[in-house]
Amino acid sequence: MDKAKITNYEEPGLARINEIVAEYSQQKWALIPLVQKIQNEFGYIPPQSIPIIAKNLRLFTSHVQGVISFYGQLYTEPRGRRVVRVCRGTACHVRGGKTILKLVKHHLGIEEGQTTPDLEYTLETVACIGVCVLAPNMVIGDRVFGHLNPKKVEQLFKK
Ligand code: FES
Repeated sequence: MDKAKITNYEEPGLARINEIVAEYSQQKWALIPLVQKIQNEFGYIPPQSIPIIAKNLRLFTSHVQGVISFYGQLYTEPRGRRVVRVCRGTACHVRGGKTILKLVKHHLGIEEGQTTPDLEYTLETVACIGVCVLAPNMVIGDRVFGHLNPKKVEQLFKK
């Protein structure tokens, strides 16, 4: 993501990162709970926290980075307050999912994997939401929106 375009991006304070990391000092087992705690606080794991974590837990930086990149639910970039997940599964695809994704990209002005400059939305795609009968679908936050069409998509993002 291009941080320069984000309007209300604020680098998390190193002091707070150090404070959190200090709670788990030298406890190698605590890597996952520690990065989760950091993500819960900042919404993501600031890259500048990785060497601090590594040093405190006596791990290699590459080990910490490897663990973070292994888990799909850990993020090293700021994310939007609402995550939009457009379904790319077969049922949705055959019922116009590709068009829905194109329209969502257009409305948000971002590509898949990106976050809007105001940090309101992050756009992702998923293999199947599990409600194929409602295809085509997407999820915004924790709400599923089914039987989508261009008009519905427009209305959703007008709000
Ligand atoms: S394929 Fe889209 S919900 Fe299953």
